[in-house]
Amino acid sequence: MIEFNSLNKLDSLDKLVCRRDVMAKKDLLSIYDLSAKEIKALLSKSFEFKSKKKSLDVFKGKILGLIFEKPSTRTMVSFTTAMLQLGGTPVFLNTENLQRKRGESVHDTAAVLSRYLNGIMVRAFKHSDVEEFAKYSTIPVINGLTDYEHPCQILADIMTIMEFHKAKTIGALKKIKIVFTGDSNNIANSLLAISAVLGLDFTLISPKEYLPKKEILNKALGYTSSTGATIKITSDVGEAKNADVIYTDVWTSMGFEAEERKRKKAFSPYQVNGELLKKASSKCIVLHCLPAIRGEEITEEIMDKYEDSIFTQAENRLYVQKAILLHFLGTAG
Ligand code: CP
Ligand code: NVA
Repeated sequence: MIEFNSLNKLDSLDKLVCRRDVMAKKDLLSIYDLSAKEIKALLSKSFEFKSKKKSLDVFKGKILGLIFEKPSTRTMVSFTTAMLQLGGTPVFLNTENLQRKRGESVHDTAAVLSRYLNGIMVRAFKHSDVEEFAKYSTIPVINGLTDYEHPCQILADIMTIMEFHKAKTIGALKKIKIVFTGDSNNIANSLLAISAVLGLDFTLISPKEYLPKKEILNKALGYTSSTGATIKITSDVGEAKNADVIYTDVWTSMGFEAEERKRKKAFSPYQVNGELLKKASSKCIVLHCLPAIRGEEITEEIMDKYEDSIFTQAENRLYVQKAILLHFLGTAG
């Protein structure tokens, strides 16, 4: 039992606990949350992590929560490894066991988890859920993929393009023709966004009925006059001409399984295959965020031929996650 005298001593502690100071926090929900300067800094830090390959102890005592509403291999393992190699602790929060599954609100979940953790990575079906999570959390929230964007992936993709094309500056990156062919989904949206913010040369090739929505396109186009980005949106695969990078993703993203048959038919002319590569520049590399369905959006032959760029792209996720964690959690309490 606490005595009256010691209760008086607890007075200051009481004030401390009740007057919960909320430190300013920054989230990574979309590529648009980053300025060109921040993207450059994140890429430079990622290259530093890759070249040194050593662990840092900067996150001792810090805990990162990981929530996956959808399956994951690369995002789950690269964030877990990154956190451990930075001296912190990752905690995998199984959505099957969280009270969210029984209807606890995003609001309450975010507020409570903020009291335990130093940061949280969320992979969700709905982008609006991640936005709501960020709204009610007092710790940094990182988007690990939603139906709208996959910002962590796209930073690793740009790192890979710079690496394979030996582009040491954003100026050099601007001269590289990047072509995405396939579904205008989360990956395409984030590529479009980063191209707009950095001023890149980006062509998106997709069947008419799958082209990006007006508001997504307009947001990107809003940057072109200030950044000098060249954005081309088309349904003509001939526009892959002279591509230095050809990027694709699955035709049926997670959450769209019911449309699989229809999608296979619509996207078949947009496959990454030997014919398409003939249109590209001689130094063209192929990228795929993975997982791939060999024989659908990309042929077995092209997957094997370009496995170095594709698997390096996956490897680079690790260095980028470290840079992201340092940038977003490093400044939070
Ligand atoms: N590219 C990517 O995010 O892979 P996972 O779904 O395996 O995390
Ligand atoms: N567009 C894919 C990306 C997987 C990393 C999906 O959302 O399933």
